[in-house]
Amino acid sequence: MRRYATAVTLRQFAHTHTQAQARTHARKGTEATVVRTLASSASPLPELTQISDNVQRGNYAQLNDKDVAHFEQLLGKNHVLTEDLEGYNICFLKRIRGNSKLVLKPGNTQEVAAILRYCNERRLAVVPQGGNTGLVGGSVPICDEIVLSMQRMNKVLSVDEVTGIAIVEAGCILENFDQRARDVGLTVPLDLGAKASCHIGGNVSTNAGGVRVVRYGNLHGSVLGVEAVLANGQVLDLMSNFKKDNTGYHMKHLFIGSEGTLGVVTKLAMLCPHVSKAVNVAFIGLNSFDDVLKTFVSAKRNLGEILSSCELIDELALNTALQQFKFLNSPISGYPFYMLIETSGSNGDHDEEKINQFITQGMERGEILDGTVSGEPGKVQEIWKIREMVPLGLIEKSFCFKYDISLPLRDFYSIVDVMRERCGPLATVVCGYGHLGDSNLHLNVNCEQFNDEIYKRVEPFVYEYTSQLKGSISAEHGIGFLKKDYLHYSKNPVAIEWMRDMKKMFDPNGILNPYKMLN
Ligand code: FAD
Ligand code: MLT
Ligand code: ZN
Repeated sequence: MRRYATAVTLRQFAHTHTQAQARTHARKGTEATVVRTLASSASPLPELTQISDNVQRGNYAQLNDKDVAHFEQLLGKNHVLTEDLEGYNICFLKRIRGNSKLVLKPGNTQEVAAILRYCNERRLAVVPQGGNTGLVGGSVPICDEIVLSMQRMNKVLSVDEVTGIAIVEAGCILENFDQRARDVGLTVPLDLGAKASCHIGGNVSTNAGGVRVVRYGNLHGSVLGVEAVLANGQVLDLMSNFKKDNTGYHMKHLFIGSEGTLGVVTKLAMLCPHVSKAVNVAFIGLNSFDDVLKTFVSAKRNLGEILSSCELIDELALNTALQQFKFLNSPISGYPFYMLIETSGSNGDHDEEKINQFITQGMERGEILDGTVSGEPGKVQEIWKIREMVPLGLIEKSFCFKYDISLPLRDFYSIVDVMRERCGPLATVVCGYGHLGDSNLHLNVNCEQFNDEIYKRVEPFVYEYTSQLKGSISAEHGIGFLKKDYLHYSKNPVAIEWMRDMKKMFDPNGILNPYKMLN
């Protein structure tokens, strides 16, 4: 790893970079981390959301023994759970807690179809659940909905080295899917801190963003086809093995980001790019947000075709992660802002020269104050680990209000300062980090425990502020339960009305993921 104390020493820098190392870069160790973090959280259970939020149960049937017997016959007893359901009832943030009495684990599309057909006829409400890493309370029941867990539908069905197209079942864990793609030199064009637990079907259903959107775009571009089961049990086959298909309405897009409200995604086709031979990561310190913007522009101008990630972390976000996880090692410290900039290309020497030049010039202009760059896979992984642990650091620390907003870049960070002012000593941390390259800020506000006073200072202010700047109140996490009352800050009444009509058409009895998104 190269440490940049001054720009002068830069030219002596050389790093080794083999193709094999590049293939395995930044892939190991994350599963253990996310899962361990979840397991170690000893915070007390929140009150049932139906009670705390005074949710009126919809007009759904009550589950009875005959229903359970029916499902046992359909799936086999092992795949019908009626006990120890807490993990399925509570969200990752431990904020939303439902009271489901039944978890179903279908093994194939036909079983999903049979479950939904039955639930629709009986008027039993259902919540589709992937890895349950969602951050807006979308994946857990609010009252007593049946949890439809996709865990067993976890196979990668094919990966075609020639076309780059992979066919995968929805319950496949993102990291496992990526590993299978890497076996033939391809990679899944989506990467996020929850990769060791989240499912690809959950990713599609939330239109997850992550850290490579700057390079590969979002899932609306990479997902070529979808198979989904509708509320009435019909299987809608929208699978396609081609990039180009203009035969009528592009219906697959309805299932990308609809958060399990229109259907259950069971299978999909993903366009996977080749693994880059050379990956370099720079972690740099900066003095002001103005310098961050200048550096971003410079990265686009000078790294152009090899730029594959551009992330921002502010000082408080970094320090919280470092305090919570002593195993993390930050190569630099003491700066108000940090940027993680990644390049991925096919020529190690060329890429290295470019990123070194980019940093040298940034330092000469006084925009970059210090930094480190590496192409060595172990170091690359170490640097990425810092970024990946930032959200977990905040969640582990104390109660955390999380926001996930799109803002114009010029106004990107100002809300963090404004929020600090608004919350004053009521908040223990107010920080910002996120996907600068996509104009997506993660504003986080921590306090010792949830309290109404700080809540009222933060919401709906954060949404009003975002809306005034014509931003989006959800850049990537979705609406789920936590943001359902705020949808109108980003969607106009006509659009919301059409969304409601579509929901009615796809799911006339409203059995799929009720109480979420459209309320
Ligand atoms: P779940 O949480 O189980 O479900 C999410 C929603 O999708 C729910 O509404 C659920 O009903 C629905 N759903 C799940 N599976 C299906 C299916 N097969 N069919 C229909 N509906 C379904 N998100 C980002 O976008 N970018 C990030 O960088 C990012 N980083 C994260 C880092 C950490 C540490 C954590 C904890 C979360 C992060 N997230 C991020 C949020 C989360 O991981 C994503 O939203 C992810 O896509 C959810 O996948 P999941 O399988 O866990 O889905
Ligand atoms: C991230 O980018 O780290 C995730 O979206 C999670 C978060 O918002 O904290
Ligand atoms: Zn994110």
